Amino acid sequence: MKNEFVLLVFFFITSISLIGQELELVDFKSDVTDILAFVDIIEAIDNTEEETQYNSFRPGELWHDNDGEILNAHGGGILEHDGKYYWFGTHLETGHQSYVGVRCYSSSDLYNWENEGVALPVVTNDADHDITAGCVIERPKVIYNELTGKFVMWFHLELRGQGYKAALAAVAVADNVTGPYTFIESLRPNAGHWPLNFTEAQKNTKYDYDIGRYTAEGRQNVVDGRYVVRDFKDGQMSRDMTLFVDDDQKAYLVTSSEENQTLHIHELTDDYLGFTGRYTRVLPGERNEAAAVFKHQGKYFMIASGLTGWDPNPARSAVAEDVLGPWISLGNPAIGTEEQIKTTFNSQSTYVLPVKVADDVYIYMGDRWNPANQLDSRYVWLPLYMEYGKPVIRWRDEWSLEDYR
Ligand code: DGJ
Repeated sequence: MKNEFVLLVFFFITSISLIGQELELVDFKSDVTDILAFVDIIEAIDNTEEETQYNSFRPGELWHDNDGEILNAHGGGILEHDGKYYWFGTHLETGHQSYVGVRCYSSSDLYNWENEGVALPVVTNDADHDITAGCVIERPKVIYNELTGKFVMWFHLELRGQGYKAALAAVAVADNVTGPYTFIESLRPNAGHWPLNFTEAQKNTKYDYDIGRYTAEGRQNVVDGRYVVRDFKDGQMSRDMTLFVDDDQKAYLVTSSEENQTLHIHELTDDYLGFTGRYTRVLPGERNEAAAVFKHQGKYFMIASGLTGWDPNPARSAVAEDVLGPWISLGNPAIGTEEQIKTTFNSQSTYVLPVKVADDVYIYMGDRWNPANQLDSRYVWLPLYMEYGKPVIRWRDEWSLEDYR
């Protein structure tokens, strides 16, 4: 049905354009490009794709769930629980505002995904609610708390109509992995607490905030911690985020903070619902976001992006002996053509999933954003190799876990 519809549209537009060309009304080449782009969009919007069984990853290709609907879980992460994988991400259609909420899919092989519905819906009957429809919900991640038996979701929240000003971390909880999740609160982490790696001199510095952050003095102030001092009382800014659970079950919220200039790693309380007051600044002034943290052979690794909004940029990586740091930069993990290295294979990191089939191979999960048509924002999952103590990502048109068995 879908193919017939696309073909019909294609022939209709092609005929019009050929008649137009005869009459010298249109430029044929650019018209064909337009038609192809249009067919692409129709493909992405049309949700009536027949059921598809996958047995491989095809990075950047359209990816459908078991009902043939386009997978809609952006900025996502995966929780492995009781032998199944659960993929949580933001449901988006156009723009970056949330009108649906956080969607969940389940899978036992990572290729084929069952739609488990909306795990955390936006609120539609209270315009003042923190997660009212039209707010911004980004990068939701879910972890399981062994102590309480609850599933805990954290995400980046921006209040409706306020752009990216609020910079909040938000938490929701559920008894079942697929939800429904109950919204608890949104907040700026660790109000009234200094980072563990902040000196007395830093705490007592009085900054002149009129000095722009792009002058030499301003940049130095950022590195020294002027935004930490500014936000000490009300809590630290929290934008792009991820969660990480260590082997000892301690969990951490990693956020892009200080006007996105510096990452913060916050230790969570034992129930994962709040902050202990212990947090550190990571790579001060290095302008990282979209962090993904994983552990390999006792060390902590991070993949992150730079700050170019929805456009891709060269990824960064870092290593630490302790999750709270100090973190040491390891450079761009992408290996490939100049263009692939420059754009991280046209993607932005969101998560790194440990794959059990190989000791030194993980899955890099990235988003290829298309904010004008988020149904066409693609997923870029690539093998991430640990080579000589560094994470390395290479392009594969198509690959499977079986390749590493
Ligand atoms: C805001 C950032 O600027 C974007 O790059 C992207 O990471 C989004 N958040 C989605 O999380």
